[in-house]
Amino acid sequence: MNFVTDQRTVHGSPDYRDAGLVFPPGFTFGSATASYQVEGAAGEDGRTPSIWDTFSKTPGKVWNGDTGDVACDHYHRLESDLDLMQDLGLGAYRFSIAWPRIQPLAGGGVNQAGVDFYSRLVDGLLERDIKPVATLYHWDLPQYLEDAGGWPARETADAFEQYASIMGTALGDRVHTWTTLNEPWCSAYLGYGQGGHAPGRTEPAAALAAVHHLNVGHGRAVQALRATSTGSPEYSVTLNFHVLRGVGERSDEAMRRIDALANRAFTGPLLKGEYPADLLDDTASVTDWSFVHDGDLEAIHQPIDVLGVNYYSTATVRLWDGVSPKQMNDGHKGTSGGTAWPGSDQLVEFVEQPGPYTSMGWNIAPEGLEELLVSLSAQFPTQPLMVTENGAAFDDVVAADGSVPDPERLDYLRRHFTAAHRALESGVDLRGYFVWSLLDNFEWGYGYAKRFGIVRVDFDTLERTVKDSGQWYRELARTGVTGA
Ligand code: NOJ
Repeated sequence: MNFVTDQRTVHGSPDYRDAGLVFPPGFTFGSATASYQVEGAAGEDGRTPSIWDTFSKTPGKVWNGDTGDVACDHYHRLESDLDLMQDLGLGAYRFSIAWPRIQPLAGGGVNQAGVDFYSRLVDGLLERDIKPVATLYHWDLPQYLEDAGGWPARETADAFEQYASIMGTALGDRVHTWTTLNEPWCSAYLGYGQGGHAPGRTEPAAALAAVHHLNVGHGRAVQALRATSTGSPEYSVTLNFHVLRGVGERSDEAMRRIDALANRAFTGPLLKGEYPADLLDDTASVTDWSFVHDGDLEAIHQPIDVLGVNYYSTATVRLWDGVSPKQMNDGHKGTSGGTAWPGSDQLVEFVEQPGPYTSMGWNIAPEGLEELLVSLSAQFPTQPLMVTENGAAFDDVVAADGSVPDPERLDYLRRHFTAAHRALESGVDLRGYFVWSLLDNFEWGYGYAKRFGIVRVDFDTLERTVKDSGQWYRELARTGVTGA
């Protein structure tokens, strides 16, 4: 069987612009969204605020003061959005469950109206032959749990286990794939370290405690889902890997540090049952890691069926010696952030990447996706992989005839599918690919200013229009062959 190329292929073109690539039979073509980004109906059917409701309503936190109150109004447009997914030929839909719809109040009572919404969503997907891929946590922590300490507190992992049992009982007869967490790196470091995401705390030690309790939450949730799901779902977690490049002196050291903090802080415990020794050393001035209790690593280290990989761009880092974070901020303009621990005289800076860029300012580097998939497969040879997010924001312009030509996004997707195909050719066990996103939606700190959808949403009328990239993707999902 040849799933590699057909005659139209300009094989191995250096710019990853191949067309006519044939994906293997059974390869999953999906698309993804997340609850707070699309649902709206923020105060309906018993839902209470999440940390993102609070954060987005805090002046200065989100562009233009945008919130997820209405978002894409997906909560009220469920049936027509399901029809849209069917029209696009999606084989799977990756969505997330809003925890504050399920357990709106401290104390854990189940809100049946919230459960019913996701039950209708799952049934609607199955009726249309679309596999439901459900994420338990895509960043909308109930505000009452943050008030009790949030992810830096161990009790949040306990609560997550209980929530997982509720969802396993409610949907575990029908969900195809359970994903525990989406991008715990963002929850921990952006939420509790850098502060650009909800809840907006800037406490390095809390960020590392959050890393651990997210990991514990994952392991306990997998166990709870297994115990309660009566179907035969697959289990997974989605990580956003940092594909690193280094510049300057001791660039290897800069890359090692960020690899430890961003990548191995998760893959270590989740896939090997241990935290990397260098991570513990690097962070010794911040925490003694005494929040790691006996039995935690065993609980975290659960077998998973598929590892979810989110990839958008590469990251370039540089190590500064003898520079305090304050001097760094004062003296080195043009940086896009860095990490430094209190008391440390070294700092790893994220430096600007060579272009081209998407409208997020992220560099376009399809080779990074191929490299990542090949490297993960070498590190974890028995672990099947799934691209759970890849996509691009561009400033779309609606044409006079109402269509939405988005050649840059289409080109971005074609190149990244080429990269994934090359990984398959190298023998990587890649099972599928989810485009981020089905719909233009609430892009966190950027509000509605950044559009990632393959379907345009007019945020005045909430009307949906399939973009050219969506038409291209429909053809790929239908035929398994990349078009020109
Ligand atoms: C990762 C996140 O999972 C998703 O919520 C976000 O919108 C995309 N990346 C784009 O930033």
